[in-house]
Amino acid sequence: MQNFKIDERDLITEKSYSRESWREGYQSITEEYDYWIDDIEGEIPPELKGTLFKNGPGLLDIQGHRIHHPFDGDGMISRFTFTNGRAHYSNRFVRTKAYIEEKKAGKILYRGVFGTQKPGGWLANAFDFNLKNIANTNVIYWGGKLLALWEAADPHKLDPRTLETLGKENFNSVLSEGEAFAAHPRFDPSCEQDNGEPCLVNFSIKPGLSTTITIFELDTAGKIVRKDAHSVPGFAFIHDFAITPNYCIFFQNPVAFNPIPFALGMRGAAECIKFQPNQPTKVLLIPRRSSIEKGGSQKKVQILETQSGFVFHHTNAFEKDNEIVIDSICYENLPEVEPESDFRDTDFESLTPGQLWRFHLNLENNTVRRELIESRCCEFPSVHPEKVGREHRYLYMGATHADRGNAPLQAFEKVDLATGEKQLWSAAPHGYASEPNFVSRTRHGDEDDGWLLGLVYDSTHHRSDLVILDAKDLNKGAIARLHLKHHIPYGLHGNFVSDVFIN
Ligand code: CO
Repeated sequence: MQNFKIDERDLITEKSYSRESWREGYQSITEEYDYWIDDIEGEIPPELKGTLFKNGPGLLDIQGHRIHHPFDGDGMISRFTFTNGRAHYSNRFVRTKAYIEEKKAGKILYRGVFGTQKPGGWLANAFDFNLKNIANTNVIYWGGKLLALWEAADPHKLDPRTLETLGKENFNSVLSEGEAFAAHPRFDPSCEQDNGEPCLVNFSIKPGLSTTITIFELDTAGKIVRKDAHSVPGFAFIHDFAITPNYCIFFQNPVAFNPIPFALGMRGAAECIKFQPNQPTKVLLIPRRSSIEKGGSQKKVQILETQSGFVFHHTNAFEKDNEIVIDSICYENLPEVEPESDFRDTDFESLTPGQLWRFHLNLENNTVRRELIESRCCEFPSVHPEKVGREHRYLYMGATHADRGNAPLQAFEKVDLATGEKQLWSAAPHGYASEPNFVSRTRHGDEDDGWLLGLVYDSTHHRSDLVILDAKDLNKGAIARLHLKHHIPYGLHGNFVSDVFIN
């Protein structure tokens, strides 16, 4: 399948996918499994040891009542445990309050941010601001805790061995009930403020006419050791950020928010966000050192401007000379989610591709220069964990099979930023890709010495495969393809840890 080749002339007329087969990957999964994976092509590398946790919407309907957008789907954790050349799979839904209530009621009881409404039309939804904490975006293991994250509210804590939901995590009451904790923490491998120990950096957004961005830094014990709030002008819709040893970097996408249709029960909150193509994107640089620690006055937030565009995900950032360099996936605009539309009918050809850009932020003259690195549509970028905040040579992402236009992700791509070489492993025409996770073989080996682990939905068999690639050479094809007994709906983010968790 990885050798699927297509004649260049066919690219113009032939698609590498069909919408009918793609959308099958968005069926709900209701069952919870626990089994050793025995149906394997190739061989699992015996040195691959640890646990891959992934999160994503497991339910795309509540007992037949369709939700409006996958981002409104209840979080389901998948866990792949690798030990002694074998792999074990297990999955559990996060038992959020709303998940339990809706399961019992057999119907939708909550509005979703992305347009899911309670039955009964706008009257049944008007002035209901009680959104569902769906815990569906990321899952991290930090300070001995497994946490399911959703950006607009507090994390849920899970048992890494049983995946049982243990309740909400408030980090010794530092987070208040329902307080936001974003789904995109960054793991600083060596934090200067913590004597070179690793730390976790995360943020929360409180949008309004001006927006409050709070930065959290957690030590290896999982304790919040620094928490600083910063105010920036204007409304902000920010999903991800990047760090360097000295800065947190945010892209404030040019959007406007009109809350009225949301308040009146006619649209989801995210459906009230309108892209502003004539406004610049603002780049916010927030210093990581807190004023409390330095005993001085709060360092100012620096704001730079660049071309209009929309960014969900950043790859990584680093400081070099008088610049901060940041690699990000940027769209020309943000497609609006229409209340009457069905995401299953997405017309990919009408959408602009997400492309990989390198932004050079000049701190001396406050200018931004950008260069296109990859025009092929791509998403879910990552680097070697030891390179977070440092200059990276390689990056990995999900990508489309075709090298132009928008389409479902069907491939995994590696970019060598030193040579410009790009490698692509494609699962087209019947396979659909997601976020790849890089796992290093040794702590201090070559930057690309390791594996890429990625879930692929195989529409031919209506099941998902965990694909293991050699990160040094994607062209040589999969080292192993682990066939699951079922599919996993297209997911969002996850992380690999070297601990082996199994019940
Ligand atoms: Co994300």
